[in-house]
Amino acid sequence: MSSTRKGIILAGGSGTRLYPLTMGVSKQLLPLYDKPMIYYPLTVLMLAGIREIAVITTPHDQEQFKRVLGDGSQWGISLTFIVQPSPDGLAQAYLLAEDFLAGAPSAMVLGDNVFFGHGLPEMMKAAPEQGGTVFGYHVSDPERYGVVDFDKDGTVKAIIEKPPVAPSNYAVTGLYFLDGTAPERARAVQPSPRGELEIVTLLESYLHEGSLRVETMGRGYAWLDTGTHASLLDAGNFVRTLQERQGLQVGSPDEIAWGQGWISDEDLSERASLFGKTGYGAYLKGLLRSDKH
Ligand code: TTP
Repeated sequence: MSSTRKGIILAGGSGTRLYPLTMGVSKQLLPLYDKPMIYYPLTVLMLAGIREIAVITTPHDQEQFKRVLGDGSQWGISLTFIVQPSPDGLAQAYLLAEDFLAGAPSAMVLGDNVFFGHGLPEMMKAAPEQGGTVFGYHVSDPERYGVVDFDKDGTVKAIIEKPPVAPSNYAVTGLYFLDGTAPERARAVQPSPRGELEIVTLLESYLHEGSLRVETMGRGYAWLDTGTHASLLDAGNFVRTLQERQGLQVGSPDEIAWGQGWISDEDLSERASLFGKTGYGAYLKGLLRSDKH
């Protein structure tokens, strides 16, 4: 099933916490075990049924992203590349993507976020087209994120960006489902003291009018961060562990496109040949021999 919702992958930023790795290459193109990092957030949007996706990058990294991803037709999707001249905050994505969105509701995912869990596609598809939906995830270090402040009855009072003392352990993940009014609301966001257009300020505009849903992403999901050397390695090991145990790929756009019926058996076979004798190529060939249709 395809969605009228459009997708945004925010894959700019400076990646300073990963220096010197990211001095010459975008964080979102670094390997996460056996794939470029951006494959993981890309496949999340594909699992939500989204086929029109904008990839926002720094000006100097755009060419490399185009080489890695192409125009998306190999996966039956359409990719549009947009430049973010400088990393002025997550909410800026909605200004940069305004023409691309053309009033459509959207799902935005951060290019360095990895999600894994049974039922993820259904959870995403359940997000209504009106208002906003974000996901709260229990983490041990909430101070590093936007944190959800709940009332006694469990309703959301506020979302606070990197609070020195966190009001809960629930961090807002880097996956935002917002309606067609997001660009207009983003225009009203003023830069924060750190000089960024904060996503939290944009979310507040929905929260204040009672149209923000904060869904809990339960402990059966993995939401992994890849922003530091240790978390990048941990996320890579997580993918490796799962793939070796199950013999199934995490974050394969080829498998997902084929599973969604967006590419044919012949298309998948061609893709498999492209990967030659790699394990990935053999895996794609194996799909065609199985009855996983
Ligand atoms: P961050 O991890 O907050 O920032 P960063 O990637 O620049 O890294 P560092 O803190 O090490 O300097 O960004 C989260 C994600 O959002 C990441 O995928 C990069 C992306 N991003 C942009 O594309 N544009 C922006 O303006 C910002 C702030 C982040």
